[in-house]
Amino acid sequence: MTKKNFPLSDVYGLLEPGPVVLLTTQRKDKPNVMTHSWLTMLEFEPPLVGCVISNRNYSFAALESSGECVINIPTSHLQAAVVGCGNTSGRRTNKFAKFGLTPMPAKYVQAPLIKECFANLECKLVDADMVPRYNLFVFEVLKAWIDPKMDHAPTMHHRGSGAFMLAGETITLQSKMK
Ligand SMILES: Cc1cc2nc3c(=O)[nH]c(=O)nc-3n(C[C@H](O)[C@H](O)[C@H](O)COP(=O)(O)O)c2cc1C
Repeated sequence: MTKKNFPLSDVYGLLEPGPVVLLTTQRKDKPNVMTHSWLTMLEFEPPLVGCVISNRNYSFAALESSGECVINIPTSHLQAAVVGCGNTSGRRTNKFAKFGLTPMPAKYVQAPLIKECFANLECKLVDADMVPRYNLFVFEVLKAWIDPKMDHAPTMHHRGSGAFMLAGETITLQSKMK
């Protein structure tokens, strides 16, 4: 098989773990939401999640000042909100109103849960050491909520450049990972 060169700038599309999430923050009294896909698990329990958030985003300052967020996991029925929240800034836009998302109070953090998402993870910042170099925030999940009806949710996974893969069939195999 002959393989062709693959641009380094597109490598992220091969490795993006997904799912694409809607990350909510709260700055003073103002909630905001941004689309986020550069995230990775770092520990089982308590769950630790690494999130790369660009310092050009309005959400960045909210994360730095509050040290909290909610990771809300949408399914493909929220695709318009996923694209919209990733292409507008909370500096000028109330994205909840614009994209039909309902904020709900969380239990442990000020940032809101998004009602329309099937899962919501309330997070606090536990390590900001890699923020100056990589914009990488390490969060601990304090509380997780899930819609019991959504067993195998059709989550969205970013392939890069506006292409998304939808989660499909689940198969169960012997695995050393729990
Ligand atoms: C599919 C998708 C995935 C994205 N993933 C990230 C990401 O992982 N990190 C990031 O900093 N921005 C990401 N963005 C861009 C932000 O969502 C975008 O800059 C947004 O306007 C920031 O909103 P804010 O200024 O209200 O914080 C993504 C956008 C899209 C459409």
